[in-house]
Amino acid sequence: MNLNIITESPEETKKLGKRISKLIIPGDLIAFYGELGAGKTCLIQGISQGLEVQDYVTSPSFTIINEYTGKIPVYHFDLFRLNSSEEFLDLGYEEYFYGEGLTAIEWAEKIEDFLPNNHLKINIKFSNYDKRTISFFPQGDRFEIFLKELIKIENFRD
Ligand SMILES: Nc1ncnc2c1ncn2[C@@H]1O[C@H](COP(=O)(O)OP(=O)(O)OP(=O)(O)O)[C@@H](O)[C@H]1O
Ligand SMILES: [Mg+2]
Repeated sequence: MNLNIITESPEETKKLGKRISKLIIPGDLIAFYGELGAGKTCLIQGISQGLEVQDYVTSPSFTIINEYTGKIPVYHFDLFRLNSSEEFLDLGYEEYFYGEGLTAIEWAEKIEDFLPNNHLKINIKFSNYDKRTISFFPQGDRFEIFLKELIKIENFRD
């Protein structure tokens, strides 16, 4: 099963993120795909707000991982500048992936082989202008259930 949602503004994408945040449990991992400026960070900002993170979540220029404190910790990986899997392994990623927070990864295609069996893939595609098609591809039982719950939320804009 998968799901596509269209948003028409950054605000709407953040609202969708807040809805998603309600379904997050400690240890979840979301892998984000989509070109530069697609809206990966924007969606993660909405999810983080929903998890009561007070800091403003940005894509760090030179750090690969940022850790935020919220209702649960948020581990935000941005792998755009990652050069090699050795560099990734040096981060000690298991502590995050198998920890008690939410792990959110931009440019997850760079570390596809290290993703756990259970994770949610989210792809964001430019439609035009401010329109984005956000597609969900659950991997593993945990996220099949997650997606069924998300689909029940008929209108995330409410
Ligand atoms: N519907 C929309 N959803 C999300 N962002 C949108 C939307 N419409 C316009 N935007 C704009 O698109 C940009 C998305 O930027 P963002 O930093 O979230 O992208 P990104 O995918 O994280 O890019 P990068 O790979 O460079 O980190 C922002 O400037 C935002 O205002
Ligand atoms: Mg980004």
